[in-house]
Amino acid sequence: MKEKCTEMIKNSIDFSLKKIQQNLETFSELVPPAASENLVYQPEGNTDWTASFWVGQLFLAKEIDGSDRYDQVIENQLKSFETRLKNKVDLETHDIGFLYILSTIADYKLNRTPNSKLLAIQAADLLMERYNEKAGIIQAWGNLEDDNENGRIIIDCLMNLPLLYFASNETGDESYRDAAYRHAKQTQKYIVRDNFTTYHSYFFDTQTGEAKFGKTVQGYSDDSCWARGQAWGIYGFTLSYLYTGDVSFIETAKHLADYFISHLPADNVPFWDLIFNDGDDQERDSSSAAIAICGLLELAKQLPLSDSKRESYEKKAYEILQSLSENYTTKNVPYSNGLLIHGVYNKNGNVGVDECMSWGDYFYMESLTRFNQVWNRYW
Ligand code: GLY
Repeated sequence: MKEKCTEMIKNSIDFSLKKIQQNLETFSELVPPAASENLVYQPEGNTDWTASFWVGQLFLAKEIDGSDRYDQVIENQLKSFETRLKNKVDLETHDIGFLYILSTIADYKLNRTPNSKLLAIQAADLLMERYNEKAGIIQAWGNLEDDNENGRIIIDCLMNLPLLYFASNETGDESYRDAAYRHAKQTQKYIVRDNFTTYHSYFFDTQTGEAKFGKTVQGYSDDSCWARGQAWGIYGFTLSYLYTGDVSFIETAKHLADYFISHLPADNVPFWDLIFNDGDDQERDSSSAAIAICGLLELAKQLPLSDSKRESYEKKAYEILQSLSENYTTKNVPYSNGLLIHGVYNKNGNVGVDECMSWGDYFYMESLTRFNQVWNRYW
């Protein structure tokens, strides 16, 4: 893509950088939680799956303005990720990928810090413990013995696979890549439905490897299409294509993108489940929009110049970003320490509904960075 640094992008970057800089003291050692409360993030320790979205924003901010004002906090945060890994604090989750890609891999890619590379490989080893060879899947949540979670995969996990691809590339050990590839193929086969909507999660029998049934946790119903899951899928399948060269992943990502785009309301920011649209009395999820922008831009980049979708995905990504920047930031909520309003974490559980989401803020920053300059992925 030819970077498209318009006034809108410049103003949105200025606004976001100021907000991030205002947060440096509050989140020097601690991190923003998954979701805000009344649009304010209350600082917490490095224990949740979302802890890396803050340091990810700091790396992006530094890439944009080149300032050293972020360095001390980045250093504090990296230490905290090292301690967390050493003590295995709340790491019984596939989200190890989110955590260690945006911290250690980002640091290694930007600064070539040897320790960060080592930590990322250790994190990949921990993620590999969740791989079930029989079913070819990485279990999403919980202890591997937990009957309620045994054999469950979720679409979000696609974003965690780059940790395994990284470990293979750096060590030459293909077993990480093989596991990631098989998991992505199983996700493609079972989580993606024939009409290119997606289940949130799918269960497998870990003894026989048999695929069982789809189930939602954060979507409206088992057979609806959770907006964020679809957005994770657009970006996630594109990433698996990049690391494996399997073009079927690009085809899948295109189909998911087309479904997502055709179910956007007039203002281009989806409701929390794509079953809803204009006229429904439901919340939007701005964080899904931010993830989708990044997925569409990466997908467009992988398409041949002759593919007309390339331009249309870039155009749609810009329109979504414009809508977010105009109507979904905290610019009129000066007391908020988040960037994007109107996100939904888990509507069914009534957790983080119509709030700022820490990953929404991260992907908003990533999308601005992608429009502003040539950017090398952390993923
Ligand atoms: N990965 C969890 C979520 O998207 O809410």
